[in-house]
Amino acid sequence: MKIVVTGGLGFIGSHTVVELQNEGFEVIAIDNLSNSSIEVLDGIERITGKKPLFEHIDLREKAAVQDFFKKNNDIAGVIHFAASKAVGESVENPLLYYENNLNSLVYILQELTNLPTANLIFSSSCTVYGQAEKMPITEDATIQPAMSPYGNTKQIGEEIIFDVAQVTNLNSVLLRYFNPIGAHPSAEIGELPLGVPQNLVPFITQTAFGLRKELAVFGNDYPTNDGTCIRDYIHVVDLAKAHVIALQRLLQKQNQEKVEIFNLGTGTGSSVLEVITAFEKVSGRKVPYKVVPRRSGDVITAYANTDKANNVLGWKAQFTLEDALGSAWKWEQKVRS
Ligand code: UFG
Repeated sequence: MKIVVTGGLGFIGSHTVVELQNEGFEVIAIDNLSNSSIEVLDGIERITGKKPLFEHIDLREKAAVQDFFKKNNDIAGVIHFAASKAVGESVENPLLYYENNLNSLVYILQELTNLPTANLIFSSSCTVYGQAEKMPITEDATIQPAMSPYGNTKQIGEEIIFDVAQVTNLNSVLLRYFNPIGAHPSAEIGELPLGVPQNLVPFITQTAFGLRKELAVFGNDYPTNDGTCIRDYIHVVDLAKAHVIALQRLLQKQNQEKVEIFNLGTGTGSSVLEVITAFEKVSGRKVPYKVVPRRSGDVITAYANTDKANNVLGWKAQFTLEDALGSAWKWEQKVRS
């Protein structure tokens, strides 16, 4: 079965391509290489023994999307990762985010819903919950006003999918990720942030490697055990496997609603200081850090209730925080060698 993975050379996309190929799917990876590298295809091949088909397409180009679907009208499903994802950048350049994240989705839906079956897995985010009132966060928690244009594109993306599914043959699973981290255990693929990392774990691994002088911990005066923010860090391989399970659910018509939503997290929250300590333990390296003022837009605490993913989707995270941090460290060392 032919599956399209947009953003297939990106961080979560590439790990999902690996898991799809391991399950025997034929994958076409689409990417515009704006935040990824063509060498990722070699990494995927070294892990799975097979290079996925690759199309260098910018999904903002409507004609290119139409052309692709015309040539590939036997697609069984689309997993749509391609999107810009830096919160700060989205505040600086909102139109880039609205154009890139929403146009691509609209163009894909326009073509996909012309096929006999239209199955879509959509990358959403726990950012849609904002600062949820209750922990752990369930899928029916209130959607809060978005804190950034990036977050808004995820909310609007979900709404677009609901609206389209009402009146077309579209079936979709919206996956709300908590904090994806780590790399493939082989260290053949992983996260490749451009420039200074904005996210905690790549900043930690680069600091431990000596590329950055010290980590800035954004605030230690939050109402948490140690004063630092709490997140639910999930291994990217666990996350990738959830996409394959969600896709199989649609292909086997096991979905109970036209659009289903699942949280993807471990169910456990870890503070920034706990992540640093866990990293130091698995790597044997010290992470120099200093506490600086809070970063604007950060929620205090966010971790998932995973009951629905566990019981309905039949997926559960297998890797620990230490596994994920160990794999991120192995990847950092490999990339720099
Ligand atoms: N942090 C630091 N120092 C850093 C980077 C991060 O202390 O250099 C802290 C943050 O303040 C936060 C935690 O580490 O408390 C995690 O921060 P990340 O930037 O790694 O992750 P976020 O939780 O801010 O963001 C992630 C995704 C977004 C998504 C968001 C939803 O990267 O795409 O979750 O909450 F929108």
